[in-house]
Amino acid sequence: MCGIVGAVAERNVVQILLEGLRRLEYRGYDSAGVALINNDDLSIVRRIGKVKELADAINDKNGKGTTGIAHTRWATHGGVTELNAHPHASQARFAVVHNGIIENHATLRTELKAKGYTFVSDTDTETIAHSIAAQMEISGDLLQSVLTAVKTFEGAYGTVVMDKQTPDKLVVARSGSPLVIGLGIGENFLASDQMALLPVTRRFIFLEEGDVAQITRDSVEIYDINGDQVEREIIESTVEHDAGDKGGYRHYMLKEIHEQPTVLRNAIKGRISQDGLQQGIFGEGADEVFKQTDYVKIIACGTSYHAGVTAKYWLEQYANVQCDVEIASEFRYRRSFVPQNALLVTISQSGETADTLAALKLAKQSGYMSSLSICNVDGSSLVRESALSFLTRAGAEIGVASTKAFTTQLAALLMLTLALGKHKEMPTETEQQIVEGLIGLPTKLEETLGLAIEIEDLAEEFSDKHHSLFLGRGEQYPIAMEGALKLKEISYIHAEAYASGELKHGPLALIDAEMPVIVVAPNNELLEKLKSNVEEVRARGGIMYVFADKDAHFESDETMRVVQVPHCNETIAPVVYTIPLQLLSYYVALIKGTDVDQPRNLAKSVTVE
Ligand code: G6P
Repeated sequence: MCGIVGAVAERNVVQILLEGLRRLEYRGYDSAGVALINNDDLSIVRRIGKVKELADAINDKNGKGTTGIAHTRWATHGGVTELNAHPHASQARFAVVHNGIIENHATLRTELKAKGYTFVSDTDTETIAHSIAAQMEISGDLLQSVLTAVKTFEGAYGTVVMDKQTPDKLVVARSGSPLVIGLGIGENFLASDQMALLPVTRRFIFLEEGDVAQITRDSVEIYDINGDQVEREIIESTVEHDAGDKGGYRHYMLKEIHEQPTVLRNAIKGRISQDGLQQGIFGEGADEVFKQTDYVKIIACGTSYHAGVTAKYWLEQYANVQCDVEIASEFRYRRSFVPQNALLVTISQSGETADTLAALKLAKQSGYMSSLSICNVDGSSLVRESALSFLTRAGAEIGVASTKAFTTQLAALLMLTLALGKHKEMPTETEQQIVEGLIGLPTKLEETLGLAIEIEDLAEEFSDKHHSLFLGRGEQYPIAMEGALKLKEISYIHAEAYASGELKHGPLALIDAEMPVIVVAPNNELLEKLKSNVEEVRARGGIMYVFADKDAHFESDETMRVVQVPHCNETIAPVVYTIPLQLLSYYVALIKGTDVDQPRNLAKSVTVE
């Protein structure tokens, strides 16, 4: 989703800004722009399409400035046009970039128009630019104007403002959309994501909700929600600088699929051994909380939600703890009941998903005993807002379609199952099975990745298809859901997932030779039931692709193509069976020639609701 980069320096900052935007491209966007102050001149260049189009439009005349802001836009209010792209200006003097949505923009627009401000775009963001200009008429001071103007904004914003009459300063404000300040020597930077700034600094200050900051070349002043000046901690980033490289792979998604054995090794390192789960891995006080936990509520969106649904099967079956899972955008707008001794678990790759964050804030006020965030980004809003946190250590994930973030979430949730099960008389045998499963998981995934060539060949059969059906049972049902999501996200083939016991209740009507049916079939206690479902499809002329354990005894024939998945311990089967489905969606998208890493209309981090 939208990305922000800003810089105030002695050197020309245009290349820093463009590189920052390139490093945020993975988030998904449809247009890009940059505003620069050179002496007293304000230049703004905007283009629809990729950052490359913007870079091509920059020349010696419009590409100079020691202070600048840049933006990649993912349209919410107003179509994808150059006029709607950021930065937006007021009075040819102030320039603004913004992530989020100003919900009361219509009211503000009417008020500002009445004051004589002329609007040239359909965006909510333009109201920020004119609001600042209006406040400047009163106070004459940029910081003061932002502090006052933000009080009139409803909704979410991460915004940066500059004024060509005070060229050595940027003023930034954060509420509901993340912003990070990057500290240089004699120059300072800011961005919506630290990834953008790793080529220029590793020292960061993460702004908190309600913060407003004034940034010059050699100073950073931060004011909290009450307008009081505050100090915020400086954090040395441990994120790898080259996390943005494709490492020889054709796409980030393929690289990230193949990284899974390594990141899974990291995810379990120091946390689990032959003796079981290590003490204290969920943070201080976690064990006390787990001891009292009788109910778990999981809240998440997208792929993270699928990890949550898988965990429900594990928590109830292995840990003997009741669990419900809900999509964050549903949870936040309905009344729900909180049982006694309830633990709230949020799952998120980014830790910045607007709906998940809002759901957490709401839940914190409604009687949950404690909150735990399972997240891939240290210092993210979700981690900071949760009482307990557990980092998944997947490393930066660039492909919009989540892969390694998902499998590390599953590993984290298996560890949570062990941690909770310990207090609920989990049988030693079950505990040992999960522990061994987790320890052997990286190797098992390496083995499973060996299916790539076979799956690449199979993907050919999907290239002319428009619809598909994914089937699974038990804890493989959410894996089927995740497989369907992957396929629709990147190949644009309509894909639906069903718990295969539901076939008779509707989807059988869709079966014909034009609709491939993908079946996830490990060798578990539901295998015989699943086999009956497969026969129902066969009897109606369906064509099936079955990912199965060798002991499941499926045979390829003219209606069924079987891919043998390495045999694995039942507890880790959902993680293992995720891999072939990721590979299938990747190779189908490759054949279809879609934009694998940045699929149309989608964003990596959804920071608006
Ligand atoms: C977007 C991404 C998905 C992700 C979802 C939730 O839709 O494209 O890949 O699963 O957001 O994101 P989160 O960062 O909260 O896991």
